[in-house]
Amino acid sequence: MNKKEFIDNLMKKMTVAEKVGQLNQCGNSIYDESYKIGWDILRQGGIGSFLGITDVEKTNELQKVAVTETRLGIPLLLGFDVIHGFKTIFPTPWSEAFSWEPELARRTSEAASKEAAYSGINLIFAPMVDVSRDSRWGRLVEGAGEDTYLNAEFAKARVSGIQGKDLSDGEHCAACTKHFVAYGAAIGGRDYNSVDMSEQTLFNVYIPPFKAAIEAGTRSIMTAFHDFNGEPCTGSKYLLTDVLRNKLDFKGFTLSDSGSCSQIMTHGFSENDKDTAKIAMNAGLDVEMCYGKFTYSENLESLVEEGLVSIESLDNSVRRVLEVKYDLGLFDNPYRSTEAAKNALLTEKTRNLAREAARKSIVLLKNDGILPLNNEKAALAGKFAENRGEMIGCWPGLGEANDCVAPADAFDFPIADKNYENCDVVIAFVGETVDMNGEAKSRSKEVLPEDDLELLRNIKKAGKKLVTVIISGRPLVLKEVSKLSNAVLFSGALGAEAGNAYKDIIFGKYNPSGKLVSSFPESVGQQPLYYNLNHTGKALSDEERWATKYLDSKMYPPYYPFGFGLSYTQFEYSNLKVSNTNPKQNERITVSVDIENIGKYDGDEIVQLYTRDVVASSVRPVKELKGFKKVFIKSGEKKTVEIPLDIQSLGFYDRQLNYIVEPGEFVIMAGTNSEDCIKESIFVK
Ligand code: BGC
Repeated sequence: MNKKEFIDNLMKKMTVAEKVGQLNQCGNSIYDESYKIGWDILRQGGIGSFLGITDVEKTNELQKVAVTETRLGIPLLLGFDVIHGFKTIFPTPWSEAFSWEPELARRTSEAASKEAAYSGINLIFAPMVDVSRDSRWGRLVEGAGEDTYLNAEFAKARVSGIQGKDLSDGEHCAACTKHFVAYGAAIGGRDYNSVDMSEQTLFNVYIPPFKAAIEAGTRSIMTAFHDFNGEPCTGSKYLLTDVLRNKLDFKGFTLSDSGSCSQIMTHGFSENDKDTAKIAMNAGLDVEMCYGKFTYSENLESLVEEGLVSIESLDNSVRRVLEVKYDLGLFDNPYRSTEAAKNALLTEKTRNLAREAARKSIVLLKNDGILPLNNEKAALAGKFAENRGEMIGCWPGLGEANDCVAPADAFDFPIADKNYENCDVVIAFVGETVDMNGEAKSRSKEVLPEDDLELLRNIKKAGKKLVTVIISGRPLVLKEVSKLSNAVLFSGALGAEAGNAYKDIIFGKYNPSGKLVSSFPESVGQQPLYYNLNHTGKALSDEERWATKYLDSKMYPPYYPFGFGLSYTQFEYSNLKVSNTNPKQNERITVSVDIENIGKYDGDEIVQLYTRDVVASSVRPVKELKGFKKVFIKSGEKKTVEIPLDIQSLGFYDRQLNYIVEPGEFVIMAGTNSEDCIKESIFVK
């Protein structure tokens, strides 16, 4: 029997109530004393999936009840937020994107998916592919930063890692890409706030990472909490059917965010729970992730009976869910070995990967030559120096403080004494605590906490050399920090091997190679801030009188621009060439540039390729990332780096939402960051 026959057969046997059950995702309260009734509902076939149950004994127990005690024996989807690791914690996604190495993200996602799969999880609520141009938004930490293309590259890689080549191999989970859509554009950077934007911006900036995830095969997509142009995303037919199904051709199932279905009513978009269920179902929401309310399981049956929801819509949603269960191999074997699960967690191999990922996720922002350290008499300071728990960051999975290497565990240095008398150099670990970024953790000022700044000022006052290591989930205003410090390193929470990774970099065992994926502002009040802003009619300049700028703060370029990051060596760019300066629209050309390592250390360089559409029928960005390559170049060596450029990728969605590439001049820019580039022009036919 093939998949279609199997599912057709099964669906023929299902009652409407059992079908509705497949669309009901419940939390882990089934294990609470107060919710014993959950087991009866499960036995009646009223629950198709759970979230947040991670213990292999329990995942097996639930599957056993679903398979052996329900009428039709349909196994469960078991979902969990494996955002940057399950047991082995890797760098937070934003920081991992500093590596500009999607292949690394594929590997960490795969390792995390494997740990989760061994514990019986089969659905992972990741990747988050929301473009985030506003540092105030707390969830910026979960994505790959401000750029559309980079987010799309990481989206593909993470989906491929989570799902692997064969979903049924017992070592991979289905991915649930989130949050559809434009969640990062919340007005004022406040989490959950409304989003109001043109469809052109939606399609040019926010949709492409979802499109990439769909092309990579993501099996599900989570809707977002906010209202988009006046419709809650979870109840928007425009978004869930017209865009997601019809335009993007998504075939998997949609899942609400936690409670975002019942919140359609809180938005004032429906009258009651029944109305909510009707709106969501007819909009194209397949599964409700329940939080407090069960709008689908309590109302869909009667809605179908009354003809307010068609049985075809219900069937389509159920089929999409069953297909994923089938492809995961759950009908053949929903159980996981308890013994294997234990041995699959936090192994030497995953620790090595965590260390590699952490080293590549650190950006060197300033260095007056103090780094790498040699035999200096150094000491550690700052609230993170000994703090293992803070190495985990938001979405901890099953990570525990004692699984993590804090800086003090890795370095042989003492903690600095009160007056810094036991050292010549202080390495200070400061930044945002886990309470300061993530969901519902927007901040109006993206600054370092005052206590941290005070510490750095005191170290400087004591006449000591200062290496500042900042851990943060968002870009920060770092002007004063940079002035106080001899060197500045920046990263997100780095996970299990954080301390070792900092040590590798500070002693030069690893030459820093990370580059920022968000623009860092000169001062607060400059949000949203992003490099690929449109050409304005007035100059982008701090000096011009009539310019788009602020009177009270410098703005151009940002204090640390998108793509910025130093190395212990220096790279010199020359000889930018394109394989064809007059290409046709369907051509692929090659951009090449010579890069010479003119410093004393071997190192990796992340070569970035930007383009500008000089004249177009819609105002276009001043530059847009279209490609990049990470290359290792030995000290004294010169390499020619080639980056392919698809002329089709130079297009955009016009007002009618047609994707068009217009003939004419395009400037091609290659460089070490978004500000320092060398240029050439091509003329597309
Ligand atoms: C978040 C999602 C997450 C879900 C389940 C929600 O609050 O917005 O990103 O997957 O909870 O934990």
